[in-house]
Amino acid sequence: MATRTRTRATRRGPRAPRPRQASARKRIWLFEEGNASMRDLLGGKGAGLAEMSRVGLPVPPGFTITTAVCNEYNARGRTFPPGLMDEVRRALGVVERRMGKRFGDPRNPLLVSVRSGAKFSMPGMMDTVLNLGLNEETLRGLGALTGDERFAQDAHRRFVQMFGKIVLDVPGEKFEELLAARKRRAGATLDTDLGAGDLREIAREFKALITREKGVEFPTDPWVQLEMAIRAVFDSWMGKRAVDYRNFNKISHDLGTAVNVQAMVFGNMGAESATGVAFTRNPATGEKRLYGEYLPNAQGEDVVAGIRTPHPIAEMERELPGVYRQFQAVASMLERHYKDMQDLEFTVERGKLWMLQTRAGKRTAQAAVKAAVDMVREKLISREDGLLRVEPEQIYQLLLPRFDPEDKGAAQREGKLLTRGLNASPGAATGMAVFDPDTAVEIGSNGQAVILVRPETNPDDVHGMLIARGILTARGGATSHAAVVARGLGKPCVAGAEAIRVDPHARQFSVNGQVIRQGEFISIDGTTGEVFGRAIRTIDPDVTKDRDLQTLLGWADKVRRLGVWANAD
Ligand SMILES: Nc1ncnc2c1ncn2[C@@H]1O[C@H](COP(=O)(O)OP(=O)(O)OP(=O)(O)O)[C@@H](O)[C@H]1O
Ligand SMILES: [Mg+2]
Repeated sequence: MATRTRTRATRRGPRAPRPRQASARKRIWLFEEGNASMRDLLGGKGAGLAEMSRVGLPVPPGFTITTAVCNEYNARGRTFPPGLMDEVRRALGVVERRMGKRFGDPRNPLLVSVRSGAKFSMPGMMDTVLNLGLNEETLRGLGALTGDERFAQDAHRRFVQMFGKIVLDVPGEKFEELLAARKRRAGATLDTDLGAGDLREIAREFKALITREKGVEFPTDPWVQLEMAIRAVFDSWMGKRAVDYRNFNKISHDLGTAVNVQAMVFGNMGAESATGVAFTRNPATGEKRLYGEYLPNAQGEDVVAGIRTPHPIAEMERELPGVYRQFQAVASMLERHYKDMQDLEFTVERGKLWMLQTRAGKRTAQAAVKAAVDMVREKLISREDGLLRVEPEQIYQLLLPRFDPEDKGAAQREGKLLTRGLNASPGAATGMAVFDPDTAVEIGSNGQAVILVRPETNPDDVHGMLIARGILTARGGATSHAAVVARGLGKPCVAGAEAIRVDPHARQFSVNGQVIRQGEFISIDGTTGEVFGRAIRTIDPDVTKDRDLQTLLGWADKVRRLGVWANAD
């Protein structure tokens, strides 16, 4: 590991990290000290942040606590190795100096995010706390410093909510309910309609809720907050959702997760601010064009949480032209650098672009084939590499059944086309509508095909998503939890079908005056976004007409013959 790091680093020139002895024992790495090859130790997110910092992209400063520390923590019965928090203090000292702010300083407070990140991306499995370091004093300071009381209150409200849910384990819906109630009283439709006063009240209600639920006061000392959050990330590695996901994906439980502590940047500081996610190519089709979504005046999780419906990234070209161009350049640079389609997270704070994540983009089978063939033609990768970019599993997916056009046409004529949502993950699926993950498992494990229908999904739904033939959600975009997980699992998904009203308690959804109850058959087409109110016959696809696939298979044939000749030698 250490040697590989060194040779890579030397090849990549002057900004490369110094060679280090005993790198395995170094518990904390500043982003600029690491690089892309260190996924084992820094996790995928940490290695990506390190690599982006190293090549000079705008990344908010921070550091990574290694996966080895997580393993040590678990081996010691959930206890930090001695001296860890002193090392955290030293590393945060570097971040403070770089940002010109201080953690817990009421006059000029530094806030941080605490982000998990294992070697393999586990979408939505592990949790992130934003805006950590806020208390009554730093909150006042933040308001005074930015001259924006509403912004400060908004950041605080989010922090209390995330910390309460993730670190203190108060059910997320309880916060959502309080927020919704306050919105109703204030006559607000969107979160952004709430004023500073409302937000302050909400945070107060959240804290009261936490005390009611857990019998503890919300921690006011930023250092205590930080220590608790780091612990929560380590704990989440062995949480049920994470364990289930790893079991299903055959990922080892010994890898551990890293913890990334990073200076906050804010996408919720007004119209010149935004946050978004984008793929360097379309993850559903493979088309070479930036594909993604963003939300003006919003913070990180708003885009993926599916709470507000985000705008297509192309609109950013009009709304924030300068930043858009810069982002395009960064995206294409990262794709060339990694020689693969990247999935990016970014935030714009008052007109300045900040990169928050890069990783290989999860893609459908169709996109994998097209991107691989295109990248070989663009001379970005060799034919052999192109072949390795497509999993045998994905070729298999391309062979999966699709809806019989005749039966589908008939369903349309019968008025069974209920609505259209977003074509979030392709493929056709028919099954009984079910409205919660447990019922999906109950009915689905007998071999009965089910479609999981949810207002939006979250990591608690994953066991239901695993068994469902397809997933339908009323809210959320192409990068919502449902979409990302479904694509990863190779299951059809229609997301953000906004016309449907899902009522999980009554176990039904309604759409344009029709009601579909649990057990009734529906069909979804994740390639077109269509939702039908009956079962539709499926047929096998004709792969001979898929030109990219034929090209790829042709290359595979050649390489295989070469391999046979080589062996014969
Ligand atoms: N320092 C920061 N400043 C601003 N936004 C941040 C910061 N850290 C994280 N975010 C944003 O918060 C959101 C959640 O972060 P994070 O990437 O850690 O988890 P995730 O995207 O939910 O899951 P995954 O682990 O799959 O990436 C993202 O939108 C991210 O861009
Ligand atoms: Mg992320």
